[in-house]
Amino acid sequence: MAETSHLDIALPESSAVAIGSEAHRQLFCHMLLDSFDPYRPAVIAWPSLAPDALERLTSLPFWDIAVATEERAARRMEALAAASSDPLIREAVALNAWEERRHKDVLGHMIRHYRIALKEEAPYVAIPDAEWGFLRTGYGECFDSFFAFGLFALARESGFFPLPLVEVFEPIIQEEARHNLFFVNWVAYMRVNRGLAARVKLDVQRLAALAVQAWGRLSLARGVDDKNFTRTGGAAVGLTLKPRGFFALCAKEQDRRMARYDSRLLRPRIMPRVARMLSHVLPA
Ligand SMILES: [Fe+2]
Ligand SMILES: [Fe+2]
Repeated sequence: MAETSHLDIALPESSAVAIGSEAHRQLFCHMLLDSFDPYRPAVIAWPSLAPDALERLTSLPFWDIAVATEERAARRMEALAAASSDPLIREAVALNAWEERRHKDVLGHMIRHYRIALKEEAPYVAIPDAEWGFLRTGYGECFDSFFAFGLFALARESGFFPLPLVEVFEPIIQEEARHNLFFVNWVAYMRVNRGLAARVKLDVQRLAALAVQAWGRLSLARGVDDKNFTRTGGAAVGLTLKPRGFFALCAKEQDRRMARYDSRLLRPRIMPRVARMLSHVLPA
C-alpha cells in the first residue's frame, strides 16, 4: 500500500481505518451520502431587507463569479461521476454535483428576489480529462471555503446582514465543508489504489491543480483580475480584523465545521498550514 502523501492531508491521531481500504471508501462516501440536507431553494423565505442592507447585498462584488463557480463545479463533478467505474463513488460524486447545482439554484432565487444585476454568464468550457477538472475544482473549493468559513463567521457576528439572511446560507457553507472533506479523502483513496504510473500522473495533476488554483487566487487578491473574490469580499462584509487574526478565525471555523464528521476521515490541511506559516510573518 502506498504511503499517504502529506501534501494536503494528515492522518487523524487515532486512525482505525486504513486510508485506501474498503472501510475508508465506505466511510468517506457515506459521510457525504448520509449527511445530505434536503432543503429546497424554491421555498426559501427570503427576508425583507432594510434599504441599507439591500444596498450592501446587491453591491457585493462576487455574485457573478459565485454563480459561474457553482456551474463549473457542477459540470466537472457530473463529468467525474460519469467517468467513475466505482458505483458508490459515482453515487457520492453525483450527489456532490447535484448539490453544486442546488447552490446555483439558491443564488438564482436570491438574485431574482433582490433584483441583483449580473453580467451575462459565460458559456461553460468543458475539460476533457474528468479527474483534472475535479482536482481543479476540489482544490479551488478548499481554498475558497477556507476564507468563506471565516467571512461567514464575521458576517454573522457583525450584524452586517440580518441573521435570517445569514441563516439561509448556512446549509451551503456546511455543504462546502462536506465537499472539502469528501475531496481530500477521494484523493487519498485514489492514490493508494493506483498503480505506480497512474499514481505519479495523479500526483503531477494534483500539484498542477494546486498551483493553478493558488495562482488564480493570488491573482485575484492582487487585483490583477477584477473578479476579486476574497479580498473585496472581506472589505464588503466590513472586515476589520488584521490578516493574522482573520486567518486564525478561518482555521478555527474550518475545524469547527469539520468536527461533526467521523474523526477517522482525513481533513483538508493546506490552508490551515498556510495560515500557520503566514501567522509568523503577518502583522498581529
Ligand atoms: Fe458549491
Ligand atoms: Fe462544493
